[in-house]
Amino acid sequence: MTARQIFVTTALPYANGNFHIGHIMEYIQADIWARFQKLQGHAVNFVCADDAHGAPIMIAAENAGVTPEQFIAKVAAGRQRYLDGFHIAFDNWHTTHSPENTELAQAIYKDLKAADLIETRSIEQFYDPQKGMFLPDRYIKGECPNCHAKDQYGDNCEVCSAVYSPTDLLEPYSVLTGARPELRQSEHFFFRLSDPRCIAFLREWTLPSRLQPEVAHKVREWILPGEDGRPRMGDWDISRDAPYFGIEIPDAPGKYFYVWLDAPIGYLASLKNLLHKRGEDYDAYMAQPGLEQYHFIGKDIITFHTLFWPAMLKFSGRKVPDNVFVHGFLTVNNGEKMSKSRGTGLDPLRYLELDMNPDWLRYYLAAKLSARNEDIDFNADDFMARVNSDLIGKYVNIASRSAGFINKRFGGRLGPLADDGAQLLAALRDALPRITALYEHREFSKAVRHIMQLADQVNAYVDQNKPWELARQDGMDARLHAVCSACIEAFRVLTLYLQPVLPQLAADVAGFLGTPAQDFSHVPQALGRGWRIGAYRHLMRRVEDKQLDALFAPPEGAAANTADSADAAPPAPGGEPVADTIGIDDFARVDLRIAKILDCQPVDGSSKLLQLTLDVGEETPRNVFAGIAQHYRPDELRGKLTVMVANLAPRKMRFGVSQGMVLAASHADEKTQPGIFVLTPWPGARPGMRVS
Ligand code: MSP
Ligand code: ZN
Repeated sequence: MTARQIFVTTALPYANGNFHIGHIMEYIQADIWARFQKLQGHAVNFVCADDAHGAPIMIAAENAGVTPEQFIAKVAAGRQRYLDGFHIAFDNWHTTHSPENTELAQAIYKDLKAADLIETRSIEQFYDPQKGMFLPDRYIKGECPNCHAKDQYGDNCEVCSAVYSPTDLLEPYSVLTGARPELRQSEHFFFRLSDPRCIAFLREWTLPSRLQPEVAHKVREWILPGEDGRPRMGDWDISRDAPYFGIEIPDAPGKYFYVWLDAPIGYLASLKNLLHKRGEDYDAYMAQPGLEQYHFIGKDIITFHTLFWPAMLKFSGRKVPDNVFVHGFLTVNNGEKMSKSRGTGLDPLRYLELDMNPDWLRYYLAAKLSARNEDIDFNADDFMARVNSDLIGKYVNIASRSAGFINKRFGGRLGPLADDGAQLLAALRDALPRITALYEHREFSKAVRHIMQLADQVNAYVDQNKPWELARQDGMDARLHAVCSACIEAFRVLTLYLQPVLPQLAADVAGFLGTPAQDFSHVPQALGRGWRIGAYRHLMRRVEDKQLDALFAPPEGAAANTADSADAAPPAPGGEPVADTIGIDDFARVDLRIAKILDCQPVDGSSKLLQLTLDVGEETPRNVFAGIAQHYRPDELRGKLTVMVANLAPRKMRFGVSQGMVLAASHADEKTQPGIFVLTPWPGARPGMRVS
């Protein structure tokens, strides 16, 4: 096999804040792929950089009372902790605010101009006279021209969803100063993407044979003929007026490149910076005929990467990307979509501070990621189940089940395999081409599932042979030795398969097995009879409930107010003050009914929920989920009477629709005063009776 030359990047994060878990997901996805390629013996340069330019960063720096350079330097200084923490092994981290990027952006621009694809036009734009700058759409607010809602953004209304341009706003004002913006003329530079040469090239480049089909479909709407027979693609405004934090346009004083022009060029700048540090030549590297170039990105930035970026490269006479790999968005605990700036409840640094294993997260995400750009959800219960039952229960335990016997009974040395053990190993090795193909095509969830099926086979072999029983029987030493040796060999192969996902665990396993670092080419090479393994150390701890609780607990200070003021006010009953007074009519709107618990079942994939089947005197029983699994066993509840809210709107949950709510008592501070107590009526109440 000849080594491929692969240049791969993730999107460049805005340098306006720390990473959130969505960034980490993108980096883990790309890191697994880059590591996989390296483990195949390919030459990979995996790089990223801060996307440092643009008006928002300029304004954020101003608000923080520092220069933009100081602002982005501070953000950059925080990056390595996350990357090291999650074993994300970029070969280089750079910034778009760099000499390499300035030089490359200006050169690409000149080449596009020489190709007659740049033109200037005068446009009319809102200008903040107090601030002395043209205002980007997001810094203009006003009254919606459609529904007259106040304080709506310059491009669309959050109340009625109308889409318009900032000049349509009634009573517009600058978000920066409150001043009324004026319309002013300004000369802008355009990249003529509507040129027939660009359209023809992009129609070729965006074919679904290259791009993910759903991505191709969406983006080709811009370049295929529309109803009027012409493509929708317009020219692209690539300039911004001073004051702007960015790269100056050559021979155009006071004009800067729009941040999205120089941002992707940052991919090349980071690569160039890396090669320079290594003493390699950038131009020679880029000129290699077989060089492959890929970008991992999220679904919100597809047009920049599949239209603007390839066209910029093509018509400046440079290598175009081989592909762009688009992933969906990560949501946390069912759907709260992450805001780009605020992130979500899952703070990556907090995860690390709680001493949670980064390989858990890598495994969990790998088990959910596919080659499609669909959203995936981080669900705490699901996370715990996959890590504890699959990763540890199925895979890590193979080592702990066999290493002890090898060490205690056979001096730590592997023995000869029996036929069935050799067969088991052959089956594991035969999976190599399939697993390789799945990684190559970014079907990580399928790869992980396949590897876990192989682990199932190994566990079935252990269960059939019961080493713990062999160990107690006379004359079964050779058999015990053969079975446990096969398990260790199998464990090594499974570890190699999982290595792109679990780099730290794989390194620990190599230490325990006493092997040097291994790659995919070592899959067929058994350790062999007589190989001496090390003492078994615990390879991985299980996820604990309390870690997940702490991960999602509101940050300290959020709930502390009531406790602090305890000396001022008497302690509240049950830990919370009694709610505002209501009238009897308000209470009557809540329809409480006696319910009989016909059935109660655990919920697969949730450690918190129980599924109740409730008879409330209706024709068909109700299905209700209750978060009481940690307090009641299903058989304690079956057949009992309780009280439910019968007119609560049905709620769709991950496990089904909940058609009501069961009443239970608890203290507001569950941490110090735990316990949930389900209500039951006095004897004599019957299903369906109203509680009032
Ligand atoms: N700076 C631009 C990209 C320039 S690339 C030349 C940008 N930055 S970003 O910080 O907003 O996003 C960086 C990457 O993170 C993008 O690929 C984006 O899609 C991805 N994600 C942002 N939120 C995400 C999730 N919630 N889930 C997964 N990826 C997410 O866009
Ligand atoms: Zn509106």
